[in-house]
Amino acid sequence: MKNSHRWQILKLLKEKDEFMSGQDLCDFLGISRTAVWKAVKQLKEEGYEIESVPNRGYHMVGMPDIITPEEIKSLLKTRELGREICCYEKVDSTNTMAKKLAESEGIHGLLVTADVQSAGKGRRGKHWESQPGTGVWMTLLLRPDIAPENASMLTLTAALAVSDAIRETTDLQSYIKWPNDIIVNGKKVCGILTEMSSEADYINYIIIGIGINVNMEEFPDSIKDIASSLFLEGGKKIHRSTLIAAVLEHFEPHFEAFLQNQSIKAMREEYNKQLINCNKKVKIMETGREYTAVALGVDELGRLLVELPDGEQKAVVSGEVSVRGLYGYIR
Ligand code: BTN
Repeated sequence: MKNSHRWQILKLLKEKDEFMSGQDLCDFLGISRTAVWKAVKQLKEEGYEIESVPNRGYHMVGMPDIITPEEIKSLLKTRELGREICCYEKVDSTNTMAKKLAESEGIHGLLVTADVQSAGKGRRGKHWESQPGTGVWMTLLLRPDIAPENASMLTLTAALAVSDAIRETTDLQSYIKWPNDIIVNGKKVCGILTEMSSEADYINYIIIGIGINVNMEEFPDSIKDIASSLFLEGGKKIHRSTLIAAVLEHFEPHFEAFLQNQSIKAMREEYNKQLINCNKKVKIMETGREYTAVALGVDELGRLLVELPDGEQKAVVSGEVSVRGLYGYIR
């Protein structure tokens, strides 16, 4: 049984929202009744709740919270992103796995996910806690034709895509803490780690690793004041593959506009609307120096524009500084 039939059957049954006859499925996919029956049997074994009624056909009544290529593909409407999808049960880090695939045959748009990471990587060499079955741990492989110095703007692009995807798939209002943390109710629910392999003026590949705390029911005391999950904030369990598909779908148009403009000018206004520190006082921490300023929003190159106490304006570059609220992580 070809996997492509499985995801197509999933897609058709999800879209139909009522019974679909076995004959319609056969005609649509150009396969036999037995092939349809076998595919439905496999899907039921994976946890899909599919009613089968003689003379009426099949009806999808429940889908499990699983992350598989078929499940994601059945929900995805992108052109290039997610054309190939590798879903692992356990890896050290999806970024490390994506790098390995990038060094071999990995194509532009490849998506790597894992149910659990044993050595999830955060920014600045920190560990990223990635428990099984509760989060979205995903990495996107891109091979864009851009100058290496423009790559950091892709992280902002990913941040806006994740925030849009959260707003679309939950009732939550998410915000961005520059450059790329996603915040809900003042707590971090997602972090993004972008890594790149490049020559002086040429990018071999970029990998964008996205970790979203989705269905966790608790956090250790040490971080529960600054970190949370979508479930803890919204009270509803989220179907993780739906969220992954939404991230890719929001990312693709922003990415295409970025390639065309070689800047984030097309998404700048929307990014600034969702920027949690916009027009607020922030503490900027550079190596060996710390100062306060008012954050004004990002410019077309994704730099944070700030106004210093003497009225002078300055553009702060991501990667070189850390931005905090005056009294804590956000405020
Ligand atoms: C941060 O420190 O805020 C960035 C965290 C990034 C975590 C994600 S989870 C998927 C991908 N694989 C990793 O090892 N890290 C990123």
